[in-house]
Amino acid sequence: MTAQLNPRGDVAVLVPAAGAGVRLGPGRPKALRLLAGEPLLVHAVRRLAAAPSVHTIVVAAPAAEVTAVRELLAPIAPVIVVAGGAERQASVAAALAAVPDGPTIVLVHDAARALTPPELVESVAAAVRDGRDAVIPVLPVVDTIKEVGAGEVVLGTVDRSALRAVQTPQGFRRAVLSAAHAVAGDPLTDDAGLVEKQGVTVSCVPGSEYALKITRPFDLALAEHLLAAFD
Ligand code: CTP
Ligand code: MG
Repeated sequence: MTAQLNPRGDVAVLVPAAGAGVRLGPGRPKALRLLAGEPLLVHAVRRLAAAPSVHTIVVAAPAAEVTAVRELLAPIAPVIVVAGGAERQASVAAALAAVPDGPTIVLVHDAARALTPPELVESVAAAVRDGRDAVIPVLPVVDTIKEVGAGEVVLGTVDRSALRAVQTPQGFRRAVLSAAHAVAGDPLTDDAGLVEKQGVTVSCVPGSEYALKITRPFDLALAEHLLAAFD
């Protein structure tokens, strides 16, 4: 059944989904690889559409797959699909340019974080609504972290209590993200990094184990098990 988005919602979600998935091994672009019989992008969009604040979803698809992705998502939710770029940042910029007037909060969410719960979407959006300029979901770092130098020799042990692993969706006041993209320099791997460069304060909210990024074959297998065990 096609989900309805909320016409009175204040959130637009940009979904960069144009990556190749090189680390997943040979095959289709990552967003179109199957997880429990459905493309990762379908899992991701279904969960975004279930978040009550979401007014608009814009997907940046691989350029050669725009029509296929439009057809794939039509039965899931009303989604705008644009062609992504060579770098993630270019894909986000293309999606941002397609957001209609209305939403005052913009979230950026990796298609590769296909099992992210709607509750995390809402908590990031709520923190922006409460007045934060930029909000990221984070988890504590559980492993001991070493800095290493040439020859894989340990240089030192990093104090992990001050470290966080960063997830998506990352949330922004719309004007803040637009301004950061207007002056964007070298591509970064996350959007908060762009606004940090503008001197904007970025705040953290608790992330979710389910928002893991499916990057390597192990992650895909783990996601299959999570779906079977808990969903
Ligand atoms: N992404 C994108 N456009 C790009 C590169 C990445 O929209 N040019 C998206 C991916 O589709 C993914 C998210 O950014 O949803 C996070 O990127 P990553 O996990 O690195 O995915 P890929 O780039 O596809 O994977 P890899 O780096 O292994 O090729
Ligand atoms: Mg990548």
